[in-house]
Amino acid sequence: MTPHTFRRQSLWGRKHLLALLALPVLLLTGLVGNQARVHAASYCQVTYTVVSQWPGGFSVNLVLQNTGSSTWNGWTLTFTFPASGQAVTQGWNGNFSQSGQNVTVTNASWNGTVAVNSSVNLGFNGTWTTSNPTPTNFAVNGNACGGSSGGSGTPTPTPTPSPTPGSTPTPTPSPTPTPGATVTPTPTATATPAPTSTPSPAVHVDNPYAGAQGFINPYWAAEVKAGAASVGGTLGQKEAQVANYSTAVWLDSIAAVTGGTGYPTNLAGYLDAAEQQAASSSLPIVITFVIYDLPNRDCAALASNGELSVSNNGLAIYESQFIDPIAATFSQAKYSNLRIVTIIEPDSLPNLVTNLSIAKCAEANSSGAYVQGIQYAINKLHAIPNVYIYVDIAHSGWLGWTNNFQNAVTLISNTIKGTTAGVNSIDGFISNTANYTPTTEPYMTANELIGGQPVRSANFYQWNNYIDEMPYDIDMRNAFIAQGFPSTIGMLIDTSRNGWGGPNRPTGPSSATDVNTFVDQTRIDRRYSRGNWCNQPGGIGARPQANPAPGFDAFVWIKPPGESDGSSTLIPQGPNNPTGKGFDPMCDPNYGGNAMNNYQPTGAMPNAPVAGAWFQAGFDTLVQNAYPPF
Ligand code: BGC
Repeated sequence: MTPHTFRRQSLWGRKHLLALLALPVLLLTGLVGNQARVHAASYCQVTYTVVSQWPGGFSVNLVLQNTGSSTWNGWTLTFTFPASGQAVTQGWNGNFSQSGQNVTVTNASWNGTVAVNSSVNLGFNGTWTTSNPTPTNFAVNGNACGGSSGGSGTPTPTPTPSPTPGSTPTPTPSPTPTPGATVTPTPTATATPAPTSTPSPAVHVDNPYAGAQGFINPYWAAEVKAGAASVGGTLGQKEAQVANYSTAVWLDSIAAVTGGTGYPTNLAGYLDAAEQQAASSSLPIVITFVIYDLPNRDCAALASNGELSVSNNGLAIYESQFIDPIAATFSQAKYSNLRIVTIIEPDSLPNLVTNLSIAKCAEANSSGAYVQGIQYAINKLHAIPNVYIYVDIAHSGWLGWTNNFQNAVTLISNTIKGTTAGVNSIDGFISNTANYTPTTEPYMTANELIGGQPVRSANFYQWNNYIDEMPYDIDMRNAFIAQGFPSTIGMLIDTSRNGWGGPNRPTGPSSATDVNTFVDQTRIDRRYSRGNWCNQPGGIGARPQANPAPGFDAFVWIKPPGESDGSSTLIPQGPNNPTGKGFDPMCDPNYGGNAMNNYQPTGAMPNAPVAGAWFQAGFDTLVQNAYPPF
């Protein structure tokens, strides 16, 4: 999908901060919406905050404070919904029940004792019909908590991310782990009556992948299965397993949203398929879309050139014909139970960091098209409570040098700070989208000395500060937090093709004392150059999983394994290239390379079709080189 530019830097970078970060603390920040603060003379104060609301649904945080003169040893909260259609569907940190419009909540086993001036956090998801007014008659243990300043019942969606139930300092019970899903607790479901068959709308949680089941793209899975059947034997059996994993859906043109030639369905078709999967799942479905149609897209490469150009009014078209329809579709009430993750414009801002010498990138920069397009997309998407936003930060082999790193943090931070909700508009960042950089080089570290020389000084690393993605992401996350982003941001890594298993994978560090020999014999990244990005024989990597490490929301498969990065030779627009994809020599196995890959061979697999098309021989290699193996 993309090239990168090496920027040599002869100075030593700082040693990586490898110490594991503390688990991100989920903060009760940014609560907006309808809030009723009810003061009691002598016993209790209840704060009822509608943290998000959408047609037919809402989510509430409650804070109970003991304003009396003695400790509560157990508590019962009562209040009455003013409107007849209001109902609790799922609560946490308390046992919720409802009779008519009267709601009763008793303490959970762990939060019954509340000292004077202490408080308890709890909350619930609910439904409403005609209006959603705020209750006023709160009482704790039969003691009225006083009058109230009622919130309005206007069904205005509040875009601010709401804290998850896990944000309270109380234990939450563990849910039953589901294969391929996660181990993170889901909200304590203590509401009565028991959940109905209608899925309740998703709240904006801190980590959308936690406690969720990943969407299986049925069209991609069908290609995987057909390929597996055509190959047969042991390899075919392994290939068939791949169809069971969640992959992202790429919205790479207007036709991908509306439907058209070259696309098996449109955006609504994917969301409908996700609803079908939700109907037979006890967990919420998380579906990931790549937002990928900026004007002058892929400005430094040719294989994933886009349909829009800056000079042809591309920014306005992007906003009105691409982003607006996406946002309108995501906003539909029938999809409000899904967790919709968006990956924002891979490679775009990174290209503005390193590739301004290329005219298409310079134009994307000087016109403001990339920055404004991304800000427009984030504003529209952030306004939808069940949509999650992760912004692309390329990968360590591209932005790992100190200058590139700092310039990227500045540009990306400023772009996001320029949105309506600023640093609170996003959920995190993603690295290695559609690339091949290992999550971890298992047998060496960047600053380890070999023959007196640091590993990172080897020709293969060109003094880059990072040899793998995890330390890069940890440092990026810290750099963004230092820029004012909340500590709730989490990182994603695309592990779809960075496994580097198979027969050529080293099994331990080399004993060589020459740093270049050592690195070449030790690295699992078998590319000729880290600048190589097209159809590499990398191998499927870690399976999608939530919370793989502190600070990381998930390992995800963004590039669907088996889909080409670009054609090995020029394929003119026609039956084998319906959308008019370009040809980049980095996809030609016979091309000698250029400055972006240190004039090394491309290492691209031969006979590949255009970007995005199914590439069976390439898929065979990715499965054979999978690590962990299938
Ligand atoms: C292509 C897209 C494709 C995506 C996923 C990109 O390189 O340009 O058209 O959907 O890869 O395969």
